[in-house]
Amino acid sequence: MNNTQGVKTAVFPVAGLGSRFLPATKAIPKEMLIVVDKPLIQYAVEEARDAGIERFIFITSQGKASIEDHFDSSPNLEKILHDRNKIADLKRLKALELDHGQAIFIRQHAPLGLGHAVWCARHLVGTEPFALILADDLILAEKPCLKQMIDNYTESDTNMVAVMEVERENVNRYGILDIASDATGIKIKAKGVVEKPSIEEAPSTTAIIGRYILNSQIFEHIGQQKPGINGEIQLTDAIQSMMKDHPLYGFRYDGQRFDCGTKEGWLEANFAFAYAEPDLREQMIRTLSKYHPS
Ligand code: UTP
Repeated sequence: MNNTQGVKTAVFPVAGLGSRFLPATKAIPKEMLIVVDKPLIQYAVEEARDAGIERFIFITSQGKASIEDHFDSSPNLEKILHDRNKIADLKRLKALELDHGQAIFIRQHAPLGLGHAVWCARHLVGTEPFALILADDLILAEKPCLKQMIDNYTESDTNMVAVMEVERENVNRYGILDIASDATGIKIKAKGVVEKPSIEEAPSTTAIIGRYILNSQIFEHIGQQKPGINGEIQLTDAIQSMMKDHPLYGFRYDGQRFDCGTKEGWLEANFAFAYAEPDLREQMIRTLSKYHPS
């Protein structure tokens, strides 16, 4: 994979509570929710791998061991599949394995916010820019969203975040860009960013979604943050605090994003991903028309 921008590390925070999806997420991590036939975290890892990422850092917490198991090898299952000549199943299983030492798991001891979760990776990331992927934001795209970003990233961009337009009534669910210049291109320069602003105070309707490329200076700035909105250490506040020296760009990706941290978004993602599969498309259409005849 040609990733010439030197973005070789991705961080996957998976230590959130997932409270909007209870009770499903009581004993199962949100990131292990299935869309069609794969857990969300697998889509995220595949997207990173397709973008040339070589180190995968997971920020986990208590009760998230299934994520670690998911990326481990499973010799017993492999042997059984092999002995039963289930070669296609075996291939699918092997395809998701990361190489020895590529996956690193560390714990966030308390859910103190996304910024804090990212900060937990500070000793592992090093000094290169790194990618940050929130697995509950699932993106259906011909070219993976992170690959689109890396292909358009130069080190002088410093911090780049994937953005989309949202309805004004929904701005209080997102980090929102204050746009510095022309907002029509795919790369938009920001002059500020604010986490979950009120509808009245939002500087735009251009919202950050769960894909970032960040300069490693971010750790210093996160370390200086006081709890922000909802009492959590906010990544957005740290990005804002480093903007004087480190510019921020919004990146308009090509694709459709689903918020799989909500029931509605997860249900729609299942439909969209099944519809995108030739083997399932006809069945999906038949099923839908059964419940909603036209
Ligand atoms: P969310 O804002 O979706 O929070 O986190 P959440 O706790 O997972 O879900 P709700 O709001 O309770 O339903 C965005 C991402 O940041 C991670 C989550 O796992 C998710 O991938 N996160 C959030 C952490 O790793 N640690 C935290 O303290 C907070």
